[in-house]
Amino acid sequence: MKRIFSGVQPTQNVHLGNYLGAIRNWVRLQDDYDCIFCIVDLHAITVWQEPASLKAQTREVAAAYLAAGIDPKRCIIFNQSQVPAHAELAWIFNCVARLGWLNRMTQFKEKAGKHRENASVGLYAYPNLMAADILAYKGTHVPVGEDQKQHLELARDIAQKFNNDFGVNYFPLPEPLILGPATRVMSLRDGAKKMSKSDESDYSRINLTDDADLIRLKIRKAKTDPHPLPGPEILTDAAAQDARPEAMNLLGIYAALADRPPEAVLEEFAGSEFSRFKDVLADLMVATVGKIGREMRRLQQDPAEIDGVLRRGIEAARAISDPIMREVHDIVGFLRP
Ligand code: AMP
Ligand code: TRP
Repeated sequence: MKRIFSGVQPTQNVHLGNYLGAIRNWVRLQDDYDCIFCIVDLHAITVWQEPASLKAQTREVAAAYLAAGIDPKRCIIFNQSQVPAHAELAWIFNCVARLGWLNRMTQFKEKAGKHRENASVGLYAYPNLMAADILAYKGTHVPVGEDQKQHLELARDIAQKFNNDFGVNYFPLPEPLILGPATRVMSLRDGAKKMSKSDESDYSRINLTDDADLIRLKIRKAKTDPHPLPGPEILTDAAAQDARPEAMNLLGIYAALADRPPEAVLEEFAGSEFSRFKDVLADLMVATVGKIGREMRRLQQDPAEIDGVLRRGIEAARAISDPIMREVHDIVGFLRP
């Protein structure tokens, strides 16, 4: 059976990178897979979250899923902390994964920065929890942005080691699905940095809740270079692409939002000035992202609707993970008297 699991952390703003790298792909996959989409609040607290904001942010991510077109009748939508299997299986995986594996994780190094000694133990063990999220449902496919690739390789290593250690063929090795022309959306202020929730400049990202005026302003202010837009030949020239990261980023975003191949977009805009391209991009973004933002704001006015979706999701998620955890207990040798 093919089963998808993926998630977004309820930390501050859901942005265009989350949408193009992850959520939009999920909407398309829900027709062909059994899908579970989680709001990963246990992951969020690996760095400090204000308790009152965490609740609002959890509803905001749920609203983003629904507004983007995830159908709660076909998919399970829930928040991670309310299903005990995640934390429990993560503990077992803490005892399966090796320190050396976690020491290689580049995201921990980036997030902990110079203050490594002061990072939470949770931030360090975070990839084990991510493996538990997927495997508590025996998830087989995981649609994510490019930045999660290394964590998924670790999830496969953990599944493999668990199976080997206990002499079973129990967990599937989950496969990443990294799809579309915008798997790594970059900051609008710096083409060398990933668009992220935690960047201190709000102009670095498009939040899904930004209104039309703010979207237009952010695109107008987005960093570019002084040259006209390149033609399709740039796609076969890695050095030329590296020299123009901001241009490639905006083109990738446009191709993704327009749902057109990057070649066709480059063909159309080759030689154009950025000012013209930015106008067209802003119009498209207002039409697509702006629409999702409006629906999110409507949903957020009615927390009862969102909470109802989450409650049903929690129940459905437990119905799948409870029996899996019972089997895991037997495999590990926990007595169930
Ligand atoms: P996070 O915001 O870290 O919870 O990420 C949630 C999902 O969005 C994951 O699948 C990430 O890979 C994806 N994602 C986050 N930032 C970006 C980005 N800048 N470009 C593409 N995908 C992203
Ligand atoms: N670590 C992911 C991120 O920050 C979020 C996440 C947590 C996730 N658990 C997951 C993604 C399981 C896919 C599958 O983006």
